[in-house]
Amino acid sequence: MILRIRKQGDPVLRMRSVPLKKITKEISTLVKNMLETMYEVDGIGLAANQVGLPLRLVVVDIGEGPIVLFNPCITEHDNEETVGREGCLSIPGLTGEVKRWEEIVVHGMAENGLGCERLEARGLLARVLQHEIDHLNGILFIDKAKDIRKEQVEAEV
Ligand code: NI
Repeated sequence: MILRIRKQGDPVLRMRSVPLKKITKEISTLVKNMLETMYEVDGIGLAANQVGLPLRLVVVDIGEGPIVLFNPCITEHDNEETVGREGCLSIPGLTGEVKRWEEIVVHGMAENGLGCERLEARGLLARVLQHEIDHLNGILFIDKAKDIRKEQVEAEV
């Protein structure tokens, strides 16, 4: 099912999302729908509050297959930062240069609701994960961007 993506100005995008306690059947369905929605609009990442649910859940696919993270947090990063251009499905038509850690380690809850999932990421994947984890804290890339540019062609959302 394709979900409605909330746009800038919707208060849910500024909420601090709450942690998941366990992965229920409803959460599994939400994950499936979030992935479907992200692929439908050619996105590479989507946070649950972007579809109106302030839960600490993100889905990402940079073309290497889907990654689903429950309660993700960045536990380590190197000291190198890189600047790259970002956009956001919730802010169509705008991009900006954002500084991010080049390499990070993310920990989250495993899909069975137990234990701890560990993910090492660098480059684009690290960037997308930082962008999505920001969403969970009510932060948008425009808060961090050095320059905001209006795209000539509106993003299709
Ligand atoms: Ni975004």
